[in-house]
Amino acid sequence: MAEPNCRICGSVVEEFFDFGRQPLSDAFVERAGAPDEFFFRLAVGVCPHCTMVQLVEEVPRERMFHEDYPYLSSGSSFMRSHFSDLAKRFLATELTAEDPFIVELGCNDGIMLKSIADAGVRHLGVEPSGGVADLAAAKGVRVRKDFFEESTAADIRATDGPADVIYAANTLCHIPYMDSILRGVAGLLAPRGVFVFEDPYLGDIVERTSFDQIYDEHFYFFTARSVRHMAARFGLELVDVERLGVHGGEVRYTLALAGARTPSPAVAELLEREAGQGLADLAVLRAFGAKVERIRDDLVALLTRLRDEGKRVVGYGATAKSATVLNFSGIGVDLVPFVCDTSPTKQGRLTPGTHIPVVPPDRFSSPYPDYALLLAWNHADEIMEKERDFRAGGGRWILYVPDVQVV
Ligand code: SAM
Ligand code: TMP
Repeated sequence: MAEPNCRICGSVVEEFFDFGRQPLSDAFVERAGAPDEFFFRLAVGVCPHCTMVQLVEEVPRERMFHEDYPYLSSGSSFMRSHFSDLAKRFLATELTAEDPFIVELGCNDGIMLKSIADAGVRHLGVEPSGGVADLAAAKGVRVRKDFFEESTAADIRATDGPADVIYAANTLCHIPYMDSILRGVAGLLAPRGVFVFEDPYLGDIVERTSFDQIYDEHFYFFTARSVRHMAARFGLELVDVERLGVHGGEVRYTLALAGARTPSPAVAELLEREAGQGLADLAVLRAFGAKVERIRDDLVALLTRLRDEGKRVVGYGATAKSATVLNFSGIGVDLVPFVCDTSPTKQGRLTPGTHIPVVPPDRFSSPYPDYALLLAWNHADEIMEKERDFRAGGGRWILYVPDVQVV
């Protein structure tokens, strides 16, 4: 097998964990045995030169992001507030010049850009997944159904002029072809413009052993150090970082054209914290892998014991993340007979690889199970509050991040 090369700097990547054969995390199938179910080797490594943690195998983008892409950003009320707060912040800070312009990569169903459109500010969402792009357009968002890359960026600049803000949430880490993206960003930004993106943070993943953040769509696992290095290759500079509590721990990075802005002290602080944590250190990353195996064994042992005791256990939240935990652990319908999820795009289908039926959330209470495996653990507060009668009636949640626990 050929050694994988770093998608940022070309050095040979050192693999530190192999999850084995995995399906596409968002490929909810209509029936078991569908001949077109796609599998690949999910393994993760670190570049010893530029420190970028990344998958060692890339899935072709059209297999993941297409007309039927089922992830709907607006399914969480907490995330709706998160993005409308950010839109307000952009409107009050970066978008105050005359006739400002903002471009969003991966705008999905318009969760963030709707607030910008409502404020009458010039914007464009670039979204390759046609179904979710249509939902954004129906909310009054201007959308281009396309993959953002260098040629798209040049075209946008020619039509709309330079962007004051380019923004991407939970999207940049999905894009292996970073050279094309960052050349496009550098060419599209106004001289004092900013590229702001937020993605799951490797520091949180390692600290909390949130291993199910690793799946086909999450190609990169960023740190301030790897982002700073990556940015510099394209004439960009890391000028701010902000830690976020959403999705199990993220960082919002701000890049500007090199020399255009003074980096905030938060950048140096996070870089120092990361050096102490050893986030680019192979021994630290291998120790993370050993913890992943322990969590898998504990989870399977708990679910097997509950089944043998005759308890009813169901899943909650058919997340993309859950493809990793269910497939890697070999958890199927014998341990978890169904998973509840609010997304109409997933209901009536089967989870990728493990073929567990996805059902609407009203099935949860009719009748309540004894235990619920919280696969959407990143939305724990919102879901536990919504489903408080479950626990009040004696039901218990099973969590597996940062450890297997029953609460
Ligand atoms: N921004 C939303 C959020 O945070 O909830 C959506 C995130 S979703 C996990 C990732 C999105 O990125 C998908 O809607 C996908 O279609 C889109 N995407 C993937 N590759 C892209 C590219 N090259 N340019 C723009 N969007 C892309
Ligand atoms: P995410 O972790 O990628 O945001 O996916 C969350 C999944 O969980 C998505 O399929 C929607 C589902 N979900 C529910 O079923 N109920 C809820 O209350 C929330 C917030 C999410």
